[in-house]
Amino acid sequence: MSEFVTIFEMGPRDGLQNEKQFVPTELKIQLVDRLSDCGFRKIEVTSFVSPKWVPQMADAQDVMDGIYRHPAVVYSVLTPNVKGYTAARKASADEVAIFGSASEGFSRKNINCSVAESIERFKPLLEKAQHDDMPVRGYVSCVTDCPYDGPTPPEKVADVARQLFELGCYEISLGDTIGAGTPETIGKMLDAVLEHVPASRLAGHFHDTKARALENIEVSLAKGLRIFDAAVGGLGGCPYAPGAKGNVATESVVALVERMGFETGIKSDRLAEVVEFARGLRRTDA
Ligand code: HMG
Ligand code: MG
Repeated sequence: MSEFVTIFEMGPRDGLQNEKQFVPTELKIQLVDRLSDCGFRKIEVTSFVSPKWVPQMADAQDVMDGIYRHPAVVYSVLTPNVKGYTAARKASADEVAIFGSASEGFSRKNINCSVAESIERFKPLLEKAQHDDMPVRGYVSCVTDCPYDGPTPPEKVADVARQLFELGCYEISLGDTIGAGTPETIGKMLDAVLEHVPASRLAGHFHDTKARALENIEVSLAKGLRIFDAAVGGLGGCPYAPGAKGNVATESVVALVERMGFETGIKSDRLAEVVEFARGLRRTDA
């Protein structure tokens, strides 16, 4: 039997959070429901963040209330603090994700605190989650380059990843937030992180600004990673990372890894229909 690669679908959250025009809640719900039929095991639905910071995600509760819950899918949400965690619990999220950064500049712009302060802020959230048996995923952003601070030292990424892992995150997603990573810088960064966190607990989260995401996935596969974040139709960008384009397109990742002999469980014909739908959502921003 072939080896499995898990694709964590980011379209509804990372894909839509940066759209300038508000995407109607009903369309967000439709996007999630259509994705639920494609064979994904994990979908990141929305963010319980400050609506002043990310207005596009202000309807998080309504989206969670409106989606169909496919029994085989884990529906995850972003939670930056205990307030977001409490809201996520109320919305019956299956899983939450905290998001830190390996660079100080992005941490301040994105979550309004230093890297060290962010870790302190995550601790009470992680304690509550442990008590509730709620799985917590941890993101580390700017793993090779930061839009404010320049190149990120691999040791810094390893240090933040280790701290989040030791605090109880079941998986660490390594974010090339602005898509500036190359196979060389991603490879060096992974070597540093792998000294502290096993490959089975790492995910690659690549934005495709410079069209290197697929190469970066190949390097990550060679280092043992088997979980990749991607957004249908390549939707996306981060409001606090100028120049960040969309996540690597899910359909491209499926094609790449299946060509390499991995299984994904994704139904490509259904996915192709959602790609069209997702492109239509983008047109609302034209
Ligand atoms: P702050 O202003 O320092 O927070 O923001 P605060 O605690 O002082 O609260 C300020 C106001 O926000 C208060 O309301 C709070 O109640 C409210 P007010 O009294 O002024 O009316 N508030 C909240 N409201 C709803 N939900 C919450 C929440 N928390 C506070 N959870 C904060 C700090 C973290 C809240 C803010 O900076 C924030 O929400 N940031 C989110 C930024 C974001 O979502 N960025 C995009 C996601 S990260 C990403 O895309 C990268 C990733 O894809 C990986 C990669 O690519 O690298 C994951
Ligand atoms: Mg991202």
